[in-house]
Amino acid sequence: MYMNSFLSYVGGKSRLAEEIVKLIPPHNTYAEVFGGAGWVMFRKDPSKNEVINDINGDLIRTYRVIKFHYTEFIRQLRGVMISRDEFNRLLNQNIEHLTDVQRAIRYYYLNKTGYGGRMVKPTFPAYRTDPSRFNQFTLRKNLLQVSRRLARVCVENKTYQDFISLYDTSETVFYVDPPYYDCETYYGKGIFGKEDFSVLAGLLEGVKGKVIISINDRPEIRCIFANFHLREVATSYSLSGKTQAVSELIFTNFVP
Ligand SMILES: C[S@@+](CC[C@H](N)C(=O)[O-])C[C@H]1O[C@@H](n2cnc3c(N)ncnc32)[C@H](O)[C@@H]1O
Repeated sequence: MYMNSFLSYVGGKSRLAEEIVKLIPPHNTYAEVFGGAGWVMFRKDPSKNEVINDINGDLIRTYRVIKFHYTEFIRQLRGVMISRDEFNRLLNQNIEHLTDVQRAIRYYYLNKTGYGGRMVKPTFPAYRTDPSRFNQFTLRKNLLQVSRRLARVCVENKTYQDFISLYDTSETVFYVDPPYYDCETYYGKGIFGKEDFSVLAGLLEGVKGKVIISINDRPEIRCIFANFHLREVATSYSLSGKTQAVSELIFTNFVP
């Protein structure tokens, strides 16, 4: 079923998802290593077995809450409104004593009302011309779809190394969408560094399963992933309301 993710996300593959879905070979287990907002998983048909992973605990908690506590999540969502004060109150909240549902509401609200899906340093935009994407009534339809779509999806909170070793079988297809080269800190400090690109390439060269990697086009990346089949795709980024055409790289360990 064709559907949207529930999050806007820096580096999210909403524009590239269909291109990537077309490349997915027959498989038993679909394993998304750097899950983020999971645009590719939400755009493709359900596989027999599916797992989505991310190192970010707040993000993964939000997946779990929408999957298991959809009704309570929607109930509590009614209590928040689009306002700079509300945004700053939630942003500066001491999260230690919040319940899982409250933490998920906070994450979702900051994502939907904040600027460009930037979760490391969320900021409230000036809505001078366009309205906020946060409309609790229209969002509810998407959240119900997401909750149902996640019913049989396993959600993991592991490093990419642990996740790949755990889920590698000859019937697995890994979709691998790491942070962009030169943008390693966009999702927080100390979770992914420049050296991780080579570690990741080495790990993926040795797996039994099939691999699809999407990444920005840099000479260093072409060199690190030189042992994979390469395909260039045209896509676009939005930055400060402007859309920029760019080419992105897709590497596979099979001939697509
Ligand atoms: C480019 S985003 C993925 C976007 C996703 N494909 C989408 O369409 O929304 C990269 C993700 O990798 C996660 N990440 C960064 N370092 C990681 C690590 N060491 N292990 C697992 N996940 C990591 C980040 O939290 C971020 O969500």
